[in-house]
Amino acid sequence: METKRLGTTEQDIAVAAELLRQGEVVGFPTETVYGLGANAWDAAAVDKIFAAKGRPADNPLIVHIAHKSDVEKLARTVPLGAKLCMDRFWPGPLTLVLPCVDSVPRNVTAGLDTVGIRMPDHVTALQLIDAAGAPLAAPSANRSGRPSPTLADHVLEDLNGRIAGIVDGGAAGVGVESTVLDFSGEVPMILRPGGVTREMLVELLGEVLVDPVLQSGVGTPKSPGVKYTHYAPKGEMWLVEGPRDQAEIAERVAKARQAGYRVGVLTTAERAELFTADVVIACGRRDDLSTVASGLYDAIRQFDHAGADLIYSEVFPETGVGLAVMNRLRKAASHRVIYA
Ligand code: TXA
Ligand code: MG
Repeated sequence: METKRLGTTEQDIAVAAELLRQGEVVGFPTETVYGLGANAWDAAAVDKIFAAKGRPADNPLIVHIAHKSDVEKLARTVPLGAKLCMDRFWPGPLTLVLPCVDSVPRNVTAGLDTVGIRMPDHVTALQLIDAAGAPLAAPSANRSGRPSPTLADHVLEDLNGRIAGIVDGGAAGVGVESTVLDFSGEVPMILRPGGVTREMLVELLGEVLVDPVLQSGVGTPKSPGVKYTHYAPKGEMWLVEGPRDQAEIAERVAKARQAGYRVGVLTTAERAELFTADVVIACGRRDDLSTVASGLYDAIRQFDHAGADLIYSEVFPETGVGLAVMNRLRKAASHRVIYA
């Protein structure tokens, strides 16, 4: 099929909404990453998301709404903590996992009795949901296993010809996906760190757990999607941690290049000129981790374009949005860490 490229005018949004009403899937911008949307009430349309992405059927989708009150159409109950989160952080990069009403199609929830819901902080996304007249089930708009798209071009790189349309709203801002917060247990638990940080949630809710699997990479994560290889560049990525990281990276790069590998370094503006490699990418600034988050997936795609066989990356403090950045980096590196 031909993928219609659309902008963000009222007319273009009407075209995209019509495709969605007809049961097609359309890529659209949000404040985190681009989503691939379908009418959440239409199980056949939702199936097309899984087909286009090559997504495993046991990985549930997030449902995107344009009005806080729409939560009641999807969630059976809304605990007080979730209400507080909606008031404080919606619209914004926070997905709430809540008990699900029966009318939500089973492929949206992958058969779970909970549903992930969020209200994106992006005018175009909200206009599209309204114009479509239904909440939009939407995972990130990448082929399964690839880094999430932060530009419309990334979406087309992965899905051109496989989806009915793409609404180009420029670069997504946050750059990493929403925080997924599960309210099905006694204490709320972060299943995936993101733009709304653990510190912000603790301040509002008091106690907040973090799924222990995120740190160790060992065990079964509570969020099905978290177990899949994800975000990974085609080359083998290693994280280098410790006071000697710079020297260690330099030594390893030199050795690997001597052995004939094409080698990349993922660093930040502050240190970029200290490294010599086949491809050195300065991803944001170390003194502002939100800039690292917003550039991360594009950086990973750039290593692929440059044909890097091996990539060495700096690590970052796991505070604020740094927790999400390190979670994605650990996964991109399949938990390979060198201590220096
Ligand atoms: O920022 C985002 O969240 C983006 C934009 C498009 O909104 N969406 C996104 O969707 O990242 P996706 O499908 O790539 O990731 C959704 C994550 C997966 O890890 C999935 O397993 C988890 O949320 N999830 C969804 N519903 C869930 C549920 N009911 N229980 C546990 N985890 C759930
Ligand atoms: Mg995804």
